[in-house]
Amino acid sequence: MIGAGNDPLMRKLEPAPAGRFSKESKVETLSGTHLIVESKVESLSGTDLIVVSNREPYEHRRLKGRLVCRHTDGGLTSALDPVMRRLGGTWVAWGSGEADRETVGPGDLVEVPPDAHSYTYRLRRVWLSPEEVKGGYLGYANEVLWPLCHVTLDRVAYLKAFWSAYRALNYRFADAVLDEIRQRPGPVWVHDFQLALLPGLIKKTVPDSRVALFWHIPWPGPDVFRILPERRELLEGLLAADCLTFQTAGYVREFAECAHQFLGAEVDRSHDTVQHRGHRTKLTAQAISVDFRYISDLAKTAEVESLMILARRRLGIRQGIRMGLGVDRLDYTKGLLKRFWALDTFFTRYPQYRGRFIFVQVAVPTRSEVEAYRRYREVIRETASEINARHAGGGWHPIEYLEGRIEFSTLVAYYRMADLAVVSSVYDGMNLVAKEYVASQVDEAGVLLVSQMAGASDELTDGLIVNPYDPEGLADAIKQALEMPEEERRRRMRTMRRHLQTHDVHGWVDRCLRDAGVRSEDTQGPGG
Ligand code: G6P
Repeated sequence: MIGAGNDPLMRKLEPAPAGRFSKESKVETLSGTHLIVESKVESLSGTDLIVVSNREPYEHRRLKGRLVCRHTDGGLTSALDPVMRRLGGTWVAWGSGEADRETVGPGDLVEVPPDAHSYTYRLRRVWLSPEEVKGGYLGYANEVLWPLCHVTLDRVAYLKAFWSAYRALNYRFADAVLDEIRQRPGPVWVHDFQLALLPGLIKKTVPDSRVALFWHIPWPGPDVFRILPERRELLEGLLAADCLTFQTAGYVREFAECAHQFLGAEVDRSHDTVQHRGHRTKLTAQAISVDFRYISDLAKTAEVESLMILARRRLGIRQGIRMGLGVDRLDYTKGLLKRFWALDTFFTRYPQYRGRFIFVQVAVPTRSEVEAYRRYREVIRETASEINARHAGGGWHPIEYLEGRIEFSTLVAYYRMADLAVVSSVYDGMNLVAKEYVASQVDEAGVLLVSQMAGASDELTDGLIVNPYDPEGLADAIKQALEMPEEERRRRMRTMRRHLQTHDVHGWVDRCLRDAGVRSEDTQGPGG
């Protein structure tokens, strides 16, 4: 999911109910709507689940001197926010917003979401030093682990110094989590590759704590993982957890193989457990998902319908013009460049679609402090304008490239309008855009094209499964989608919608926590 941004079609957030907070401060979302957030938490929800991730779900910033609150971007926070709204508890995460310190109360806590009327949870912010951000988050996590796990090996930019910063980052989180456990003992659910050492650090101090970790991105095979000089430390940090969950069974197999090869750990394949240094870790696979009902209901609202009318006008989508859609963080793993090449091929091979089909690409800048991302963004922009220059004519151009953040209801309007959506990641743990598109397709008329390299293609098999490395094949799949009979489109979309209805994010969290042996009463939040 892509968070709220400076899109002119942005949804207004409702003001939070008065009186919840002991000290009110006026802030606004980036849409300019005033709301009230607390600077000191008084009412806290009654659950004790402790979720930990590097990225926080909401950050505060100063915009022209005013305090603003916004959602952050990425699949992790978009999936977990609705879950935490239901369960309550505490989410421990890096306070990355420049005005985050101004909005926390004692214990670095702030109650979120800012627009909630009833269900809220605690966000506990962790303050990272500039070295921890630079070397730990940007360096080791984003320039080493991310490209390594996505098997884009040329982009691995390893430096020894990154490792000590990564360790420091993990220690910093451990301090906050251990303090949280002392105050409100509860199961700890760690998320993603930025925090691989955390289970080990928690267990060292509180051996009887229950710790689970969900790995959101792909796990590579031993031939790739051996590149990492700290492979043993990383595996040992993870294996301290009671339960490790991956997106697919394939990643579980690769992880078990790495644990066996690099640590000599004992793998029990019939029970999906790994034993190392006398500790047994359960390995499971659970595909992350979206809040199907929320998105589907939102897609049917009058608000989204009027946003669709507005968007049609804004994008110049007149009667008879078909629309394709791509929605991605500007990340090289999303395969945007190859997608644009495929569009180039499409309009060259099938010129009859010039003036009759437009591809809207929403591209959300991300990790722009990392050189590889900056360069990628430049190449993407240049390629879009080259292709537009090559095929444009009569007031029409093939790619409408929208760079920036976009508010969720506007995004849902785009999803609902789109005749087809293309997810062409070169490698992707899951890809929630694919699932958001299906959830928004309430008219059941659109076609999903999903990369065989994304975890989502294991489940959404009624989409057209495409190979991102084959631009001609992708171009032909776009044509196939545009020419697919209505009855087939509906049948495919309906099947995928039915699947997501029963495999939504709430089911995912329940299954993950059950795998982790977390009792249901530990997580009985205000939403039940
Ligand atoms: C992916 C990762 C998340 C990360 C998100 C956004 O979804 O799995 O851990 O939060 O990208 O990236 P960022 O670096 O901005 O947190």
